[in-house]
Amino acid sequence: MALQRTFSIIKPDATERNLTGAVNAKIEEAGLRIIAQKRIQMTRGQAETFYAVHKERPFFGELVDFMISAPVVVQVLEGEDAIVKYRDVMGATNPEQAAEGTIRKAFAKSIGENSVHGSDAAETAALEIAQFFSGNEIVG
Ligand code: CMP
Repeated sequence: MALQRTFSIIKPDATERNLTGAVNAKIEEAGLRIIAQKRIQMTRGQAETFYAVHKERPFFGELVDFMISAPVVVQVLEGEDAIVKYRDVMGATNPEQAAEGTIRKAFAKSIGENSVHGSDAAETAALEIAQFFSGNEIVG
C-alpha cells in the first residue's frame, strides 16, 4: 500500500476537555504523521458543507450545532494505508462499540460527541482536505 493522506477533525467534545495532545499521541503512536494542523472555529456554512452527505439524516441539525459549539482541530495525516489505519485508531462511530485502545473508546462521550472524524475513502479525503487546507499549508 502506498503512502496515503487522510483528513481528521478533533471535535468540540475533545478540544473542550483539553484532549488535543492525547488524541495526537494516539495518532502518532499508530505511525501516522500529522503533516498539517490548525485549530479553527468552524462556521455553520463550513459544517453544513462538510456534512452535506448527511443532510437528510435526522441528526443533521444536531451534528452541525455540535461541530460549531467550540473550536475544532483540523488535520492532514499521512502514512501507509492512512485512511484505513486512522479509522482503526479512531474505533467505531458509537463509542459503546469501539475496541479497547481506540480514540473513541478512550475519549468519546456518545455517538454524536465522538471526539474525532476521519475520511472514509480516498476521494472523500481529497475533498475534505481541500475544504480546509491550501497546498502550501501541507508539509509532508
Ligand atoms: P463522523 O465520522 O464525523 O461522520 C458523521 C457523524 O455523524 C458521525 O461521525 C457522528 O458524530 C454523527 N452521527 C452519526 N450517527 C449519529 C446519531 N445517531 N446521532 C447523532 N450524531 C450521529
